Amino acid sequence: MESQVCVCGAGTMGSGIAQIFAQKGWSVKIFDIQKANLDKAKNTIEKNLQYLLGKGKINQQQKSDISSRINFEDDVKRCTDPLIIEAIYENQEAKINLLRQLAEVNDEKVILASNTSSISISQIQKEISYPQRVVGMHFFNPAYIMPLVEIVRGENTSDETIESAKSVCKKIDKHPIVCKDSPGFIVNRVARPYYLEAMRLLENKAATVAEIDEILEATGFKMGPFRLMDFIGMDINLATTKSVYNQLGRPERLEPAITQIKLVEEGNLGKKTGKGFYNYGPTTR
Ligand SMILES: NC(=O)c1ccc[n+]([C@@H]2O[C@H](COP(=O)([O-])OP(=O)(O)OC[C@H]3O[C@@H](n4cnc5c(N)ncnc54)[C@H](O)[C@@H]3O)[C@@H](O)[C@H]2O)c1
Repeated sequence: MESQVCVCGAGTMGSGIAQIFAQKGWSVKIFDIQKANLDKAKNTIEKNLQYLLGKGKINQQQKSDISSRINFEDDVKRCTDPLIIEAIYENQEAKINLLRQLAEVNDEKVILASNTSSISISQIQKEISYPQRVVGMHFFNPAYIMPLVEIVRGENTSDETIESAKSVCKKIDKHPIVCKDSPGFIVNRVARPYYLEAMRLLENKAATVAEIDEILEATGFKMGPFRLMDFIGMDINLATTKSVYNQLGRPERLEPAITQIKLVEEGNLGKKTGKGFYNYGPTTR
């Protein structure tokens, strides 16, 4: 496969995925339907590269080479690439709709990967012309740093597609682990109680946001649950919670928390909107 990728969705994950591929020498296209989000992604990547430059991890030449490998695209018809990684909202219909459009403008050699946190790959691929080429490639946030990628095998994903997805991850120094297509895969299933129990403690007034985060971080977690939810994005985390909850038959222990529902209704989505459980000032990623 040529070292050429198209990343669809220029949000938190899409910009990070685009950045790591470009850093590893790939030619990258990043597509979004919102021009403002393409601009935001450009600024975020620039800021991250400036940080790497400041730390001496890359030099000025490498920085400009990386930037020049990323092209920003707002027309889905031009998303014709051997590898496509979809990283749009955590919504099954929206993902199917986009992947259908992508299947139309590409041939059966394309790999259509979804970065979904929780939506069933088997359900998605049923609706796409090349189901054998549909696979989950679940990167973690921030994608340019976190090594793990869950490779999710849907019922119709071919062995060849799984091998290609693994090989792509290795080429960009990621650590691929193949998972079954079960609700929330591995990490997001195990992580649900981390967020939900923390919010229940808060709702029961057992402790404050800062106290819970401080305690969990002192035990060795890199981020407490509230800091982590702000980092992920409240809307994405709620959509993932709902998706896992519904797929598992709505068990009480995984019921979405009132606190997260309220924050999403208020538009306080975390770092990306400047406010979530904490205040961050002007909009940032
Ligand atoms: N945020 C995380 O920590 C995290 C981690 C792993 C996986 N994910 C998954 O990655 C995906 C994206 O999450 P995110 O946090 O980057 O979301 P985000 O809200 O930051 O960005 C989503 C982007 O998708 C764009 N978009 C929406 N519909 C589109 C379409 N039809 N075509 C092109 N672009 C479109 C939006 O304009 C926006 O820029 C979700 O499936 C999420 O579950 C998120």
